[in-house]
Amino acid sequence: MDFLLIGLCLNWLLRKPPGLILCTLGIFSKMLPAVNSGCPQLCRCEGRLLYCESLNLTEMPRNLSGMMGLSLRYNSLSELHDGQFTGLMQLTWLYLDHNHICSVEGNAFQKLRRVKELTLSSNKITQLPNNTFRPMPNLRSVDLSYNNLQSLEPDLFHGLRKLTTLHMRSNAIKFVPVRIFQDCRSLKFLDIGYNQLKSLARNSFAGLFKLTELHLEHNDLVKVNLAHFPRLISLHSLCLRRNKVTIVVNTLDWIWQLEKLDLSGNEIEYIEPHVFESVPHLKSLQLDSNRLTYIDSRILDSWKSLTSISLSANTWDCGRNVCALASWLSSFKGRYDSNLLCATPEYAQGEDVLDAVYAFHLCEDTVDPTSVNTLSPMINNSDQMFGYGSAAATAYAPEADEEPTTYAITVTLPGEGAENAVQIHKVVTGTMALIFSFLIVVLVLYVSWKCFPASIRQLRQCFVTQRRKQKQKQTMHQMAAMSAQEYYVDYKPNHIEGALVIINEYGSCSCHQQPARECEV
Ligand SMILES: *[C@@H]1O[C@H](CO)[C@@H](O)[C@H](O)[C@H]1NC(C)=O
Ligand SMILES: *[C@@H]1O[C@H](CO)[C@@H](O)[C@H](O)[C@H]1NC(C)=O
Ligand SMILES: *[C@@H]1O[C@H](CO)[C@@H](O)[C@H](O)[C@H]1NC(C)=O
Ligand SMILES: *[C@@H]1O[C@H](CO)[C@@H](O)[C@H](O)[C@H]1NC(C)=O
Repeated sequence: MDFLLIGLCLNWLLRKPPGLILCTLGIFSKMLPAVNSGCPQLCRCEGRLLYCESLNLTEMPRNLSGMMGLSLRYNSLSELHDGQFTGLMQLTWLYLDHNHICSVEGNAFQKLRRVKELTLSSNKITQLPNNTFRPMPNLRSVDLSYNNLQSLEPDLFHGLRKLTTLHMRSNAIKFVPVRIFQDCRSLKFLDIGYNQLKSLARNSFAGLFKLTELHLEHNDLVKVNLAHFPRLISLHSLCLRRNKVTIVVNTLDWIWQLEKLDLSGNEIEYIEPHVFESVPHLKSLQLDSNRLTYIDSRILDSWKSLTSISLSANTWDCGRNVCALASWLSSFKGRYDSNLLCATPEYAQGEDVLDAVYAFHLCEDTVDPTSVNTLSPMINNSDQMFGYGSAAATAYAPEADEEPTTYAITVTLPGEGAENAVQIHKVVTGTMALIFSFLIVVLVLYVSWKCFPASIRQLRQCFVTQRRKQKQKQTMHQMAAMSAQEYYVDYKPNHIEGALVIINEYGSCSCHQQPARECEV
């Protein structure tokens, strides 16, 4: 600044007219604070900014009119009286953090219309009266963190239409009154972390249309219901880590923009299967350090946009329930923490989840190892893996034993009842089966020739797609086992990836990249 001024004045001395005006203005503005009542003892003045910090002050310095910025950080102020700051009408920022302030009277901030930034953090404030901030309608940022606030008056933030940032971290707040932020239509950042919130009301956050980041970490919330954040249409990041959440639900049917959700360090045992359907843009999800034993396949299906996830330090059950998760993980392209360990059953305890899946052949169908096994999970990944629902191929394997010549796979949609499937199965006579198997062989040969001459693995993938299409048409009964087996004789999955291709049906080859017509027959 000073160099610029010297430059301007030199400019003037060299008789360049614009320099004259700027030089005079510059010198005048430098002299202004001196004119203005002088700098209080021990304080530092920079133009119209006053810094009286770390002075053990118990009272405010006097005669501060005209100041634009005032810092009283690290002093021993204990109270803010009504009208304390009158005469500071020009003030645009006020730092009062690291004092011993325990009470703030209702009209303490009178006449501070221009203040944009107010810091009251690290004091001992237990309560702020209604409308404390009302005299400061231009506030952009308020910091109340590290105090002892125990409750918030319902009208505390009324009139703060320009507020963009509000810090209340590390207080003792127990609940957030309904509509307390109603006027805060510009608020983008809200931190109520490290408090004692036990629950949230449905309208606690009403009105925060521009909020993008909400911190509720380190509270005592026991349940997360996404319906408690309605109309937070701009919210991108929600942090709920280190609460006491046991279940996550959503009782409201709506879609929001959330991209980052941190639920780590809770006690989550249950997540409602449809919760994530309301956050289709979710990119980052933290679920580590909870009590999850499995993830419902419907949840896995809704994790479509994720680019990073953390799942470690849960109590994973490495029974058959783990298959859906294992196959999802192995086809997941984003980042995830590698430290997923089995907690049960005993023989798998402490093993890495994916390692256990391979080591103990957890996701291979053990009912009839010689025939349709490796294929069956592909028929319907989700329901079958979990062992509930009507997983047809598994359920009817015993019947396949009764008719060993047919190896029929009854493919039913999961919604259909078991009786229906049995009937369909009985209709399949040996003759029909023979015809079908012949057709399938021809079909597979045709598709492989037409679609992927390249590798046997791709061929299999096409085959799977083919089968799925058939299933959709409900023309069903296939004699896949025999014919497929022939192709699979040569196919040796290489190590981990190969095995996964088998269980999860998401191999690297995908038929749909080809013109669809070529894969249809
Ligand atoms: C601050 O002032 C109080 C009395 O007002 C005194 O007891 C205390 O020792 C002072 N502290 C420092 C660091 O000067
Ligand atoms: C402060 O202002 C009062 C009147 O408001 C005046 O009497 C006093 O001299 C001023 N002190 C300084 C240091 O300017
Ligand atoms: C603050 O305002 C609300 C409603 O506007 C009222 O219910 C409450 O009693 C007020 N608090 C105090 C301390 O006056
Ligand atoms: C598996 O079954 C579920 C119903 O539980 C269905 O929504 C899904 O589309 C099926 N998957 C495939 C690959 O057919």
